[in-house]
Amino acid sequence: MIDLKFDYSNALEVTNDKNIFDFQEEINKHYNSLKTKTGKGNEFLGWIDLPGEFDEELIDRIEKVAANIRKNSKIFVVIGIGGSYLGARAVIEALSNSFSHLEKDSGNPVMLYAGHNISEDYMVELLKVLDDNDYSLTIISKSGTTTEPAVAFRILKNHLENKYGSAEAKSRIIAITDKQRGALKQLVDEEGYESFVVPDDVGGRYSVLTPVGLLPIAVAGFNIRELLDGANKMKDHIESSPKIGENQAITYAAVRNALYNAGKIIEITVTYEPKLFYFTEWWKQLFGESEGKENKGIFPAGVGFTTDLHSMGQYIQDGLRNIFETVISVEKPTSELKVPSDDKDLDGLNYIVDKPLHEVNHMAEAGTTLAHVEGGVPNLRITIPLISENTVGQLIYFYEMSCALSGYILGVNPFDQPGVEVYKKNMFALLGKPGFEKETEAIQSRNLDKESWRS
Ligand code: PA5
Repeated sequence: MIDLKFDYSNALEVTNDKNIFDFQEEINKHYNSLKTKTGKGNEFLGWIDLPGEFDEELIDRIEKVAANIRKNSKIFVVIGIGGSYLGARAVIEALSNSFSHLEKDSGNPVMLYAGHNISEDYMVELLKVLDDNDYSLTIISKSGTTTEPAVAFRILKNHLENKYGSAEAKSRIIAITDKQRGALKQLVDEEGYESFVVPDDVGGRYSVLTPVGLLPIAVAGFNIRELLDGANKMKDHIESSPKIGENQAITYAAVRNALYNAGKIIEITVTYEPKLFYFTEWWKQLFGESEGKENKGIFPAGVGFTTDLHSMGQYIQDGLRNIFETVISVEKPTSELKVPSDDKDLDGLNYIVDKPLHEVNHMAEAGTTLAHVEGGVPNLRITIPLISENTVGQLIYFYEMSCALSGYILGVNPFDQPGVEVYKKNMFALLGKPGFEKETEAIQSRNLDKESWRS
């Protein structure tokens, strides 16, 4: 049984049940093509079976490697970008104490990230921290050729070798990559690093339930079996009925497409729990990279309330009416804190004395929902009882399935990302990478003042 609930009643002023339920036939077709692996991008549908095909031996090995890292490392650096890092970070931050980096003796390594930017300052500052602390790292790249993580790995490998010597450095590197292709795979074979495979049929943004996500999550101290169990519960739920109204993921896919057809071309995922910030980032990548193509697609944005009610709140309430919002609402916190009484009551807050902070947060959510719906912003609500490995696992599979179906409804291939190549080509040409001479010429003809970009 799943704990996740999906409610679209606050969207019915903009669309209606007919528009939503009209997607049933189309969804049946798309769901069937996912199950039979006959639709667009069908070489990347391995994620569908992942949580069900719980590979006991693999999970054991991940847990053993993670336990070893936890013993010898104060810091664990996850090197990767896009789907090769966001899933792990989303889950780890959702489940961690918000101030875990300051917790002493928690027994958990501090999780740091690299290879998701090319900032010199970021890297220099990271190296300084690593000078003074024992660490290990994982390099995650399915292709094994992505520039950002490759540059970060070269620098950190060098640092590790200088710090520990080459033999110990090797024991502190875990590579997660393709089983036979790519520069990283070649390095694994030559250096003999501990390694895990990214399955051929699972694309980056769908890979959080493979070693790509599971190893870092286990190193951070979380229960990956529970995460998989949650995802599997959602899989069972989805398989139990493909009906809009009964099946939560399918209903979400239908509703967001009904809203898109009604001109709501931006979806804002809203959380009231700062721990879910990176979950929203993962969701943005999943939907943005899957749907935004062929000049189509809902633009995925994210906000954290109530923080952003004091920045983006104005636009959402009053700006261009082309947005809808989807709130990930958490019913209960894991701890309790009540508003204390104050004799003087100078701040005028005694009217909420003894109320748990969470109740105040929930009233903010309810009040905001009313305001936004009144302002013409349809509101969808995904509720989970609490943030745990199990509920996060449910959310992951819920979103993966609804994203695949939404992409098929749009008519695009949700499992490729051809648009991402364009910036890479230009960057390689500008950096003078061999083989990109033609692109360099083309750029020169566009009058780019290359010198002004150099440092
Ligand atoms: O979802 C995707 O496929 C991408 O975001 C990739 O994960 C990202 O580009 C990193 O690729 P790689 O793992 O090959 O380094």
